[in-house]
Amino acid sequence: MRGLAIFGRIAAAIMLFGFGTVAALGGEATLGVALGATTCGASTCHSAAEPWPNSAVSQREYIVWKESDPHANSWTALTSPRAKAITARLGLGAPTEQKLCLGCHALPLPPEKREESFDITEGVTCEACHGPASAWLGVHTAGLYFYGENLANGMYPTTDPSARADLCLGCHVGDGERFVSHNMMAAGHPTLPFELGFYSWFTKTNPENRAGYAHFTVDDDYLQRKPWPFGVRVWALGQVAQARRILELVVDPKNGPKGLFPELSHFECRACHRSQKGPGVERVALPRIKSANILFAGFAAELVDPGLAARIREDVEELKRRSAESWEAVIASSANLKRTLEAVEAKLKAHEFTVEDNRRSLIRIARAYQDGRLAEYEAAEQAVLSAGSLVDELDRLDALSAADAASALEAMARGVSAFASANAYSAADVRASLGEIARIAAR
Ligand code: HEC
Ligand code: HEC
Ligand code: HEC
Ligand code: HEC
Repeated sequence: MRGLAIFGRIAAAIMLFGFGTVAALGGEATLGVALGATTCGASTCHSAAEPWPNSAVSQREYIVWKESDPHANSWTALTSPRAKAITARLGLGAPTEQKLCLGCHALPLPPEKREESFDITEGVTCEACHGPASAWLGVHTAGLYFYGENLANGMYPTTDPSARADLCLGCHVGDGERFVSHNMMAAGHPTLPFELGFYSWFTKTNPENRAGYAHFTVDDDYLQRKPWPFGVRVWALGQVAQARRILELVVDPKNGPKGLFPELSHFECRACHRSQKGPGVERVALPRIKSANILFAGFAAELVDPGLAARIREDVEELKRRSAESWEAVIASSANLKRTLEAVEAKLKAHEFTVEDNRRSLIRIARAYQDGRLAEYEAAEQAVLSAGSLVDELDRLDALSAADAASALEAMARGVSAFASANAYSAADVRASLGEIARIAAR
């Protein structure tokens, strides 16, 4: 069982690295100064035309990022007509000059935190995720690869799923400083779907691409240095982190009610709108906190503690019931649910995941969809993205026959494309996709 052996290695590696919680980037806590992607991409380092034969990492990261990673376009996105229309509707000037936009579409460090080589128009560059490089560049280019030392010198621990979730969620859901408000969505900003496992490898527009857009290669060498980066563990920790982040944003005093409503971006769009993406206000109802990730955090909890999974369901019921009472009641019940999620997170971090955990989660998600519990747009979308990242792992672990793998990956692409339209998803495609994947997982 090659798969189980790999899973076994994860726990050992975590103990080895001893990851802790790390302050998100962009905050005061970051060490070092940003040098810019071209420094990382200096041709002998991360942009070799061919992978280096004796190097731990492929050294093609810059080229892959530049050519295939959507993050390399995040600045260009701000120069598009759509971006200009958004800021115009908000009564603002050029998007590339708005603090409101730069926090997620670039790395807007204060001048003392960037070298001259740093170029903000590179968008979401290497250092936006790996941390400003000046402090660890010396150790890091000395030839020997000491990941632990890099981390100690301020390299961001992207390897750890929870730390990675904090990093990605800062831009893909928001944090205390960065947000896509309801106003910004009303002005034309897209909504922000996200699932850590899927998004670490795939883009929605091209889910068939197995190599993904990822600039790193997971081979034997990678696995000697770092834990297994795919699948059920990343998915489970990512779901809990995302549910927790949404609750944190809801109770953030900045987002509290002003006039009739609180900031609406973390509430179910379809409580008021006919479509998921906005247009067509049907009715103005009592807002309901977005619940898709909370539901999925419940599925993750089932793997480590069914009692906690039940507690999540009770806490959600309480939150729904008390939402009608007062904003204080919303805050109190959200805090309660957040504590339960933290307990789940602690257990997941200590858990040794197995292939069975993956299969069980896939089947649980497909069944919940068939039972009608995930019919809402966002929950259904989380279901296909989750299934995608889980099925991808089964294949990478050689846990599927070649025929099953091909058919499961095709089903995954069909599921993702069911969300191509803004107004409604194709329930028939999602049902077929999840049904096929669950049938294969159960074999
Ligand atoms: C909280 C982070 C965040 C902030 C703040 C933010 N964006 Fe975005 N933006 C994103 C993310 C993430 C996406 C990609 C969504 C996806 O496809 O999953 C995106 C996508 C876009 C797109 C579509 C890109 C494309 O290639 O189609 C445009 C245009 C855009 N943003 C403009 C803006 C403008 C203008 C502002 C400021 C008013 C802004 N954004 C502020 C995170 C943010
Ligand atoms: C959107 C965030 C993001 C951006 C932007 C980004 N990376 Fe990464 N990088 C990651 C993640 C996630 C991993 C995988 C987890 C890990 O190995 O730490 C990774 C892994 C790596 C690795 C490790 C490969 C290995 O075998 O250990 C290298 C080297 C790397 N990135 C270099 C770069 C360079 C150079 C750039 C810019 C050209 C860049 N990254 C841009 C998120 C990012
Ligand atoms: C500094 C902000 C920032 C961080 C951090 C960040 N992203 Fe993004 N991400 C963006 C923006 C902005 C876009 C939209 C780029 C565009 O379309 O122009 C984007 C787009 C993407 C897309 C393409 C979505 C699609 O299918 O169209 C994926 C996948 C993605 N990000 C994954 C990740 C992952 C995984 C991480 C964490 C390792 C991460 N991002 C961290 C800002 C960020
Ligand atoms: C409590 C009800 C409520 C919720 C929840 C809500 N909206 Fe709205 N939305 C409105 C109202 C009312 C308007 C019209 C006034 C305005 O622009 O604020 C509107 C306007 C919009 C518009 C502009 C288009 C139009 O029809 O005017 C978009 C786009 C939009 N919302 C997107 C969203 C998205 C995406 C979500 C979920 C993240 C969401 N809304 C959640 C009430 C809501």
